[in-house]
Amino acid sequence: MAHRWKPDLTQDDVTPYRAFLNRRQIVAGGVAGLGLAAMGAAPARALDLEPNDWEEITSYNNFYEFGTDKGDPKRHAGKMTTTPWTVRIDGMVDRPGDYDFTDIMERMTIEERIYRLRCVERWSMVVPWNGFELADLLDMVGVRPEARYVAFETLLRPDEMPGVRYNVIDWPYVEGLRLDEAMHPLTIMATGIYGKTIPNQNGAPMRLVVPWKYGYKSIKSVVRITLTDKQPPTAWNKYSAREYGFYSNVNPNVDHPRWSQAFEQKVGGGLFAQRVPTLMFNGYEDEVASLYAGMDLVKYH
Ligand code: MTE
Repeated sequence: MAHRWKPDLTQDDVTPYRAFLNRRQIVAGGVAGLGLAAMGAAPARALDLEPNDWEEITSYNNFYEFGTDKGDPKRHAGKMTTTPWTVRIDGMVDRPGDYDFTDIMERMTIEERIYRLRCVERWSMVVPWNGFELADLLDMVGVRPEARYVAFETLLRPDEMPGVRYNVIDWPYVEGLRLDEAMHPLTIMATGIYGKTIPNQNGAPMRLVVPWKYGYKSIKSVVRITLTDKQPPTAWNKYSAREYGFYSNVNPNVDHPRWSQAFEQKVGGGLFAQRVPTLMFNGYEDEVASLYAGMDLVKYH
């Protein structure tokens, strides 16, 4: 497909520890760093793409339908029935319907994508997802020209989800993207991690992953996708519009009203468990900045 993104973020790009340290020294070095950059010696990009291990990725989670502690999703999400699984795709599409997950999988191309994940709470991970481009699914159903946004909804099944008896958020969990964000080749529906079926606590059988946005945009266990011409409501924006905007692009310069977003800390990692500077668009600036050209990123946070 013409739009397919060349997945350059592979294992081979994992930054060697020494290069990572050097870059941090350059950043800390200020004027000296500028001098290096002027001489063309500073690398343009040295992202930490060292994947977290399976244990970290699958036992430290946010999935409030199963509770608000980081260990709750792993403890309780096993109760969620994921077969059969139907995704309703409706709204401004040529072929609306209830699509069976196994049928979707047969028609999609599964790839590995090693992505950085940055939670609004300031922890981060690197996850080797398996999944398909959301654009391919949207192409399959045919997006009508009047569509401008995509709305997503998570399963709501109270007898399998102990967390939903608490009105932390207004269930079901909902999210939304602008159509161009949804069609961007970095945007995937993840169905696996480390080549294995995605565990329930991470959003089985398929969850959205939008790596340049705060993690809460990456809605789990999706049962409905609706194409619309209106900006869809989103779970955390309904909870507090001042704190959680519709766009939610990772941005070290726009603080959460209750905390700074300038730094983050990677989950696990022993020696690496230090605060590191948060990167604009979570390190995907080259790929996605053009989507927001001319927009006020404070107003549209
Ligand atoms: N999706 C649903 N349905 N419910 C949730 O509570 N939490 C979000 C997001 N998707 C959440 C969700 C948040 S805050 C984050 S940081 C990521 O999922 C965490 O994904 P992970 O547990 O796979 O790391």
